[in-house]
Amino acid sequence: MSTVLVVGADKGIAHSISRQLHDRGEDVIAACLFDGADLAAAGITVEPGVDVTSQESVEALAARLSEKGVKLDAVFHVAGVMWLDEVGSLDYDLIREQIEINTLGPLRTIEAVRPLLNEGAKVGIVTSRVGSLGDNTSGGMYSYRISKAAANMVGLNLHHDLSKDGVSVLLLHPGMVATDLTKDFPGEHSYITPEQAAAGLIKNIDNLTPETSGRFQHSDGTFLQW
Ligand SMILES: NC(=O)c1ccc[n+]([C@@H]2O[C@H](COP(=O)([O-])OP(=O)(O)OC[C@H]3O[C@@H](n4cnc5c(N)ncnc54)[C@H](OP(=O)(O)O)[C@@H]3O)[C@@H](O)[C@H]2O)c1
Repeated sequence: MSTVLVVGADKGIAHSISRQLHDRGEDVIAACLFDGADLAAAGITVEPGVDVTSQESVEALAARLSEKGVKLDAVFHVAGVMWLDEVGSLDYDLIREQIEINTLGPLRTIEAVRPLLNEGAKVGIVTSRVGSLGDNTSGGMYSYRISKAAANMVGLNLHHDLSKDGVSVLLLHPGMVATDLTKDFPGEHSYITPEQAAAGLIKNIDNLTPETSGRFQHSDGTFLQW
């Protein structure tokens, strides 16, 4: 059995990852922005009130885990938001806020829990193919694209630094997933469920090795361009 921290587990993809890992017998710690009551009721250890935009909050999480003697074999950083915008009406405060959550959130969190990572641990950071420079053929979605492209750089940089400790890092795209995040997304899309996305992302991390560390992978297993 391994110990896995899942960040942003209140709902959506991270909620499903927490449930599936728990169901297969992993020791899951679900870090939730709110109380994670339903996960706790299912027997999952919940760390409530973890806001990835708050240095104090993530450092307190790391301190609580450290006091309990927790060592981590894997981390899924999933917390994120998608606020839609377009050039001509950009709100720079909202862009900064989205970068705070989507880009600095994973950096802040992984930096805080780094001392708790076992040698050979695996870190998965959920970004988005929308943050791929090579895949951007349509424009739009300024703040989300900027924040996720930069999150990919966060993960690649962490790969270079954490690999010195024997830790592997993978950037993850879950696919188009029917969650609250996409419920107002315009256009017709073929969505997968959060359960399907979670199963793929767990498989990605199961299969992650030092040789495949520092890459960007779809939940369907395909490696993606930056
Ligand atoms: N759904 C898709 O098609 C899709 C595609 C590509 C990438 N992604 C990425 O996948 C990740 C999960 O998205 P989802 O679809 O599962 O969305 P979701 O259902 O809205 O879940 C997002 C989670 O992030 C949490 N969160 C937001 N701000 C946070 C903060 N400051 N600190 C801690 N947690 C915070 C939310 O907590 P609350 O509910 O309590 O606010 C929620 O649990 C995101 O990073 C998203 O960008 C999703």
